[in-house]
Amino acid sequence: MLQNNIQIFIWCLSLVSTTFAIECLPYPVASVCKIEYVSYNPGDGITFPKGYQQFIIKSSVSTKKGYSKVATMDPDLYEAMHRPSSIEMIGVALRTIALPSELLLGDFTGNWIASVDTSSAENYKITYLDLSSNTLDDMHFVKRLVNLEFLSLRTNRIKTIPALVLNTLTKLKYLYLQYNHFTTIPWNDIPSSLIHLDCSHSVVRSVEFANISLPSLEYLNLQYNFIPSINVSDLIQATPQLKEAHLFNVDIDWPRMGEIMSELASKNISYSNYYDGCPFDGNYTIKLGRCYRRRRQKPPADVGIDKKAVMVSIVAVGSGVLFVYIMLIACRRMKQLRWF
Ligand SMILES: *[C@@H]1O[C@H](CO)[C@@H](O)[C@H](O)[C@H]1NC(C)=O
Ligand SMILES: *[C@@H]1O[C@H](CO)[C@@H](O)[C@H](O)[C@H]1NC(C)=O
Ligand SMILES: *[C@@H]1O[C@H](CO)[C@@H](O)[C@H](O)[C@H]1NC(C)=O
Ligand SMILES: *[C@@H]1O[C@H](CO)[C@@H](O)[C@H](O)[C@H]1NC(C)=O
Repeated sequence: MLQNNIQIFIWCLSLVSTTFAIECLPYPVASVCKIEYVSYNPGDGITFPKGYQQFIIKSSVSTKKGYSKVATMDPDLYEAMHRPSSIEMIGVALRTIALPSELLLGDFTGNWIASVDTSSAENYKITYLDLSSNTLDDMHFVKRLVNLEFLSLRTNRIKTIPALVLNTLTKLKYLYLQYNHFTTIPWNDIPSSLIHLDCSHSVVRSVEFANISLPSLEYLNLQYNFIPSINVSDLIQATPQLKEAHLFNVDIDWPRMGEIMSELASKNISYSNYYDGCPFDGNYTIKLGRCYRRRRQKPPADVGIDKKAVMVSIVAVGSGVLFVYIMLIACRRMKQLRWF
């Protein structure tokens, strides 16, 4: 009997703790609900305040409960939020997302997301999707996000950019793929709408700009890959709107990098200059993108006999002779004392 009561009590307690009221923090925009703490696992009964178009859940340690934890963004959670058009869930330990097809904006930066399900609809409305700093190793899921204008997959584990995925994103303007593990970029799949492309800090091993067209591209970042050569005239041909290009790669040697920079400068394309204050004379060298002053070369050794060298040799020979003489005397003395 007592045990039963205890069980009921515990059950009630758990019910209370999973259905605690979620409240919006004061926020100057009426359509936005900013939430300090949420905990959600599939099946939890959870309700959000009504009447908000946008939810912002960012981790904060100021609550006693600690960081928010949302294990998954599933259809039940989206219903519980009353189907908002915009969701930002940053640093809440999310592992999977089933993307709602009506969502317009999703910012899921800094979670542990390993998969995004985009199989529930043919077309998705989303225009802005930020999945920076997660653990994604596959990007096939973006194929159906045909309305995207902004996509960030920065700092994930993507090993390949699959063919015929990016070409469906015909409205894409900003694409961030830096800090991943891919080795090639499918240039022919890059949508012609793209303005900004960042593929730095990956492991790209070659680029070929002949016969491709990136008519809107204004910004290109390919630095810190393993690209051994870049044909800038082909690049400029392919990108008539290019305004800024960052092309530093360790495998491009220093004189060639200088040529590349002057080619860019002649077309008024700006670039980060790792060589600022590093003049192209024999006194400086670049290692790993940094400028070092070379060590002064020692002047070649004089052929004539140096006075100092002569003095040093005299002293050396003199002390050698003295040492042998002392040893001889010592031996003789030892013989006299019959030590041997
Ligand atoms: C570019 O296209 C021309 C003509 O279509 C072809 O001859 C050339 O081999 C192509 N170059 C590259 C690098 O694909
Ligand atoms: C760049 O490619 C063009 C052909 O597309 C070629 O004529 C030119 O010599 C190349 N430039 C360099 C520096 O390799
Ligand atoms: C680069 O800019 C300068 C001044 O801003 C201009 O005079 C020059 O024509 C431009 N050159 C090119 C190739 O656009
Ligand atoms: C290196 O620097 C010295 C002065 O410190 C200068 O006289 C010399 O011309 C420089 N070398 C080159 C190759 O410019």
